[in-house]
Amino acid sequence: MTLSTPHGGILVNRFHEDVDVREIEHTVELDKMALSDLELLANGAYSPLTGFMGKQDYESVVTNMRLADGNVWSIPITLPVSPIVSSTLIIGEKVKLTYDDVVYGVLELQEIFEPNKDVEAAKVYQTTDVAHPGVKKLYERGSVYLAGPITLIKVPQKSQFESFYLTPNQTRREFEARGWKTVVGFQTRNPVHRAHEYIQKSALEIVDGLFLNPLVGETKSDDIPADVRMESYQVLLKNYYPEDRVFLAVFPAAMRYAGPREAIFHAMVRKNYGCTHFIVGRDHAGVGDYYGTYDAQLIFQNFTSKELGITPLFFEHSFFCKKCGGMTSTKTCPHSKEDRIILSGTKVREMLRSGETPPPEFSRYEVVQVLIRGMKVTV
Ligand code: ADX
Repeated sequence: MTLSTPHGGILVNRFHEDVDVREIEHTVELDKMALSDLELLANGAYSPLTGFMGKQDYESVVTNMRLADGNVWSIPITLPVSPIVSSTLIIGEKVKLTYDDVVYGVLELQEIFEPNKDVEAAKVYQTTDVAHPGVKKLYERGSVYLAGPITLIKVPQKSQFESFYLTPNQTRREFEARGWKTVVGFQTRNPVHRAHEYIQKSALEIVDGLFLNPLVGETKSDDIPADVRMESYQVLLKNYYPEDRVFLAVFPAAMRYAGPREAIFHAMVRKNYGCTHFIVGRDHAGVGDYYGTYDAQLIFQNFTSKELGITPLFFEHSFFCKKCGGMTSTKTCPHSKEDRIILSGTKVREMLRSGETPPPEFSRYEVVQVLIRGMKVTV
């Protein structure tokens, strides 16, 4: 076995610094989400996509979870603008893509279309409720979508964690340099607690390496900030993981909170980074009560293993059980709720904000110290 083949066959690269934009007349200002999508389109993380989706791909993704050519794809990657902005643009022209007035890319404008956002919300998020953070974001963004191939001409500026921003090409080289033939990807938007550690290490028992790939793009305001999390991951790996079996790099995408649909998207992207396996636990990418606990696992049944090209590893709800005397899960622990140490994300965030230490059975001491310090600074 070798590292996985990129989705669609080849790793896309649309980064070209030397593009001259002086003759380009029109400009579109991106929001944070579109800027991160631009970068991920260009560096191949979203292969086989080469740009923001046109109507045919968009509608096919929304209704069938596939691109028009049949490739599996579950989340629309779109460039929404207001009707005022789109009315100034001409199909066929090149458009500068800016953020804070800095030019980061160029769009070859092939299409302008109006999406049906109610259908998009109902299909992708399974709800049109604007209390859902992904749906809220969908409705807040522009009502007209621009589409066409992109070129990235300037890589967006990074935080202090610059060395953890790697392209899929670079992560593949890192995995190869370590001699890994099988790599399991782990998506997270949270600190790594004992349950995460348990499922990662369970997976690591059967593959060569773990790719810890935290999402650091836009998240909802009550999620723990990415810079605090990054520090906590480093402390955890240093103290509890074999250095030569794990690799940490960030995934700069925005969180969609689309549960099952996002699990498929997360898996396809990690395949592009070179992973052969991908962990899907309980309520992957979920929020509130919008999705069933294991819906993000069941959705994989819609596709053949050949179509996916990456092996999902499913884990049930994991926790520390006092009677078992260790980490376990609903699949392996016979004891009752009272014996299990389970804390909700909201409860943990409350504890950390008030400087209270969650028990060591829930989170490693060193991790908690970083989080309490970090939350004090950011709250
Ligand atoms: S996510 O939104 O990025 O999926 P989170 O960071 O909480 O959220 O989860 C990362 C991964 O760990 C997901 O695959 C999720 O399903 C899994 N997971 C989180 N907590 C548990 C748990 N207690 N038991 C089993 N799997 C879990």
